[in-house]
Amino acid sequence: MKLENRKILLGITGGIAAYKSAELVRQLQKSGAEVRVVMTQSAQEFVQPLTYQALSGHPVYTDIFDGEVDSAMDHIELARWCDLMVVAPASADFLAKLNAGYADNLLLTLCLANKHPLAVAPAMNQQMYANAATRENITRLKSRAVLVWGPAHGEQACGDIGPGRMLEAQQIAHRVERLFEPGKLDGLSLLLTAGPTREAIDPVRYISNHSSGKMGYALADAAIAAGADVTLVSGPVALDSPPGLELVRVESAEEMYQAVMPRAPKADLFIACAAVSDYRVEQSQPHKIKKSSESITLTLTPNQDILAAVSALENRPFCVGFAAETQDLENNARAKLERKKLDLIAANQVGDVSGGFNADQNQLEVFWSDGQQSLSMASKADIAIQLIDLIASRYTDARS
Ligand code: CTP
Repeated sequence: MKLENRKILLGITGGIAAYKSAELVRQLQKSGAEVRVVMTQSAQEFVQPLTYQALSGHPVYTDIFDGEVDSAMDHIELARWCDLMVVAPASADFLAKLNAGYADNLLLTLCLANKHPLAVAPAMNQQMYANAATRENITRLKSRAVLVWGPAHGEQACGDIGPGRMLEAQQIAHRVERLFEPGKLDGLSLLLTAGPTREAIDPVRYISNHSSGKMGYALADAAIAAGADVTLVSGPVALDSPPGLELVRVESAEEMYQAVMPRAPKADLFIACAAVSDYRVEQSQPHKIKKSSESITLTLTPNQDILAAVSALENRPFCVGFAAETQDLENNARAKLERKKLDLIAANQVGDVSGGFNADQNQLEVFWSDGQQSLSMASKADIAIQLIDLIASRYTDARS
């Protein structure tokens, strides 16, 4: 029973998906959890509290001032009681109020008083989900470590088709179970590079590349979820810092090298996901280069290979590299694995397929000395979870 002795407070807000949460209560209980239910006023327009009272075997909490329902459990006690709060379905209105810090109903008050993990399963019309206000609310909630599960894509109660359906009860129950599984990287420290580097030509110009940093940041998220203590050394990207890690911002390859090298011997794992510029301008100019009719020549000099340098350390962490290849993927990736003496390399085909630089999706071929595994096209978040799982099991094998 994966959820034995776990206490889950389930919040239900107004939406046609409110009936689906009956199945969620059943699934959570089947896995051993004790579930108590809080309903908002509008949730009660869709489903009777009595349904959830019968299913959960406890009174349903609906009103902040309703001490008679369960006098031993006021709203602060309820928030203290649970190990996890899940709000499913979470309406657009609820997400907006949660983001703004409102406490004008029992469920919102509990969310503010809660110091345990909070997960929300959005459910709304696809146009409401696409609205900039909703997207901003969700982005900000994520940056405050609220777990956002879903929504799924598909046919909606109103007849529209698109993203906005609540995840199925079983999918939510699985995520709850995963949350309580011991993390595969519990107690391990991970050093990670991400994003591009910028090599100055003069104070206003630089050489760089199209790396968005999305894959590296997704890996940081997945590693934190797996229990790792993460330090992210990041080149310039337009992404928010994932919560719960040490972020070191750098610009050039040399700065990235200087940030990584003193930290590497203390790390258990090192993942080099950054697209480090192989060259820098030999003599970047202290003042802006002025236009003239003459051609100019920039001399480029090689940067240090950060990954190779970490892998050559006497007290080296488990080293994972990335390879972007346009041809002969396996041979080129395996050659890099050997040349840089890596434990594992994740390669993606670039040039003629979607995925890779700047995309939201990716697919990877992962190689190690005596094995390989394909991670097929999926969102970078999903690919990151799979890659962290694989790295964790290779790390465990290598150390045993
Ligand atoms: N890398 C690094 N420091 C560098 C260059 C690359 O840490 N100065 C890391 C990248 O983060 C990535 C891997 O090495 O993990 C990719 O190496 P890549 O640049 O593709 O390989 P090269 O050996 O430079 O080979 P090539 O450019 O010929 O593909």
